[in-house]
Amino acid sequence: MRGLDGKVAIVPGGATRIGQAVVAAFRAAGTRVMVADINATAGAAMAADGVGFTPCDLRDDAQIAALVQATRDAFGRIDFLVNVACSYLDNGPASTRAEWLESFDVNVVGSVMLMQAARVDLAKNRGAIVNFGSISSRVAQTGRWLYPVSKAAILQLTRNQAMDLAPDSIRVNAVSPGWTWSNVMDQLTGGDRAKTDRVAAPFHLLRRSADPGEVAAAVLFLCSDEASFITGTDIRVDGGYTAMGPERAEPAIPLLMA
Ligand SMILES: NC(=O)c1ccc[n+]([C@@H]2O[C@H](COP(=O)([O-])OP(=O)(O)OC[C@H]3O[C@@H](n4cnc5c(N)ncnc54)[C@H](O)[C@@H]3O)[C@@H](O)[C@H]2O)c1
Repeated sequence: MRGLDGKVAIVPGGATRIGQAVVAAFRAAGTRVMVADINATAGAAMAADGVGFTPCDLRDDAQIAALVQATRDAFGRIDFLVNVACSYLDNGPASTRAEWLESFDVNVVGSVMLMQAARVDLAKNRGAIVNFGSISSRVAQTGRWLYPVSKAAILQLTRNQAMDLAPDSIRVNAVSPGWTWSNVMDQLTGGDRAKTDRVAAPFHLLRRSADPGEVAAAVLFLCSDEASFITGTDIRVDGGYTAMGPERAEPAIPLLMA
């Protein structure tokens, strides 16, 4: 893909499995990456040729400013922000005010503060931002309120950012993954990818979960020059999850005649 070689990306949440796939894809395309994460152990382990790490808590403006400066110092430019980081904090209908604010602080506000801090650099380089939505942006899921509402807000934020950053020639888009082989899936299944795919099969048309690299491929496309006229939209990397209705992928009409 054109327009990635020699560029620089900041990836908050880059220390996670999906983030690592984004970082690996950028490196393969010649893009240098500054990983930013609250998990300093996992983040520091990723430092390599062309990959830096800055510990950063997205709830703290001073740490965000330091992240942007550290990226300028290390790589001399900033072209892309890829907002992978998230909080899964959620107590559904019982969630407290503090929990709502915490969820939105990490999932929505942190990325906006990062955009503000890096806006001059992005404008100079006609850069791009990729936000992370989710299948949870569009459907109700039992017992989950904070995460889905914050993920829905991210899709609206993407439209607002696209409009008001267009005069700076900064494009803003989102990816909305379906179930993806990730740290969460790994922990919940004891490392059983086949089980994850079996559980995911009935509600993904492609009858499996995604590889992190399949999400990363969409992120790189949105950053690349191939997407030069794409802004304010969302790529659903969800294996058909949101294409499917309540009838699922099963013939329902015959049930009337059974
Ligand atoms: N896993 C899935 O199936 C799935 C599905 C749809 C969307 N997504 C989205 O993909 C992205 C990655 O998901 P994941 O499952 O790999 O998540 P994860 O919980 O494994 O990783 C999130 C990362 O964000 C970091 N983080 C958390 N709070 C932070 C803070 N305050 N400051 C800086 N970093 C912080 C964590 O340390 C971690 O490295 C998220 O945006 C998520 O909403 C994931």
